[in-house]
Amino acid sequence: MTMLDRLFEITNKHHEFFKYSIPLIASENVTSYLVRRFYTSDFGHRYAEGKVGKRYYQGCAFIDELEALAIDLTKKLFEVEHANVQPISGTIANMAVFFALTNPGDTIMSLSVPHGGHISHDRFSAAGLRGLNVKYYAFDNENFNIDVDATKRKVEKLEVKPKVFVLGASLFLFPHPVEEISEIARDVGAKVVYDASHVLGLIAGKQFQDPIREGADVVTASTHKTFPGPQRAVIMCKKELAKTIDKGVFPGVVSNHHIHSLAGYVATCLEMMEFGEAYAKQIVKNAKRLAESLYNLGYDVLCPDLGFTESHQVVVDVSKFGGGDKIARMLEDVGIILNKNLLPWDDVKNADNPSGIRIGVQEVTRLGMKEEEMDTIAELIDTTIKEKKSKDEIRKMVREFKSNYTTVKYTFEECPAYDFPELC
Ligand SMILES: Cc1ncc(COP(=O)(O)O)c(C=O)c1O
Repeated sequence: MTMLDRLFEITNKHHEFFKYSIPLIASENVTSYLVRRFYTSDFGHRYAEGKVGKRYYQGCAFIDELEALAIDLTKKLFEVEHANVQPISGTIANMAVFFALTNPGDTIMSLSVPHGGHISHDRFSAAGLRGLNVKYYAFDNENFNIDVDATKRKVEKLEVKPKVFVLGASLFLFPHPVEEISEIARDVGAKVVYDASHVLGLIAGKQFQDPIREGADVVTASTHKTFPGPQRAVIMCKKELAKTIDKGVFPGVVSNHHIHSLAGYVATCLEMMEFGEAYAKQIVKNAKRLAESLYNLGYDVLCPDLGFTESHQVVVDVSKFGGGDKIARMLEDVGIILNKNLLPWDDVKNADNPSGIRIGVQEVTRLGMKEEEMDTIAELIDTTIKEKKSKDEIRKMVREFKSNYTTVKYTFEECPAYDFPELC
């Protein structure tokens, strides 16, 4: 077998694997053929440093038109004054914002990772690279949210006041108290940055909070989780911060900005304008139903008294079954793909085998699954964890079930989700 054959084989096997597995990673999604078509365009061979109409390379006439369209659609879809569409990932978007709004040695407020914060909000990653001193919000485990009063007291006691309050999370069940935190931030002259990476599609579909109107100064977001686009990111903000944010992106942390995927992002904006509301509504309904089904099967799904979730995520404490690592591997073995996750009461040093698993329903929803299918997924998870059948039997059940859901919906022309299309 040649190396090239090997490359095709690996890629085809990966596609086949996902086609017959149940994809429940909360940070992923599948794009439509419409979006993928633009990945293969010549845009992916070009450079466009700088801003629309002010580039450092020649040959950007149509790239300028494309980027102007991307900015315009982002502003319309999210009703914001300014958008920068150049960050190539959510982490890069956060770095750009830290670059723009802080200096090394400044303090920021973030959620710790066990409380749901993303590593880029923390000292191990983007915030640390900028040399920021990270203080954590007080967290209310019962309500799975920031404890506003305790945080206020914490901020009052800080000798050096924070410059930025980061909201938004990777483990994200309920809207954050943007209004209340913005008030605390304003009192100390700080900015509020809301990382909407996980919930951008729900915001586009108007099924989650509206961070800018609730008081956030800046919203960052990757565009490939509940927003079913290519892997990149956007930053949105009020007009008065536009220049500062743009400078943080370029020349701050982005040079080439992967223009083929920008074209795909524009196509996703058009899909979300047409289908976003229906898609986001179904995502939230499915998450609630999956949570309820698992709870009824005896699982420690977080926040039963709060309706489990208001987002695409369901979080389960599986410590009584051996922990998140063991369970995520068991499920992977039968074709149910999700991830282990630290829970608020876990020590960050326990990241290798935390108490929880995180489940996201945005991808299976995109494939047309509804509430009934969530019951089936809960039963398959239960059958696996409680070893009610052999692995081979469960694998077969997963495969048969998933065979009916391999088409991308909520797009202009439905298309295969996991085929590896031939171009030539
Ligand atoms: C809240 C949050 N912000 C940022 C990121 C990073 O995004 P990316 O993987 O696009 O860099 C993630 C990734 O999952 C995330 O959950």
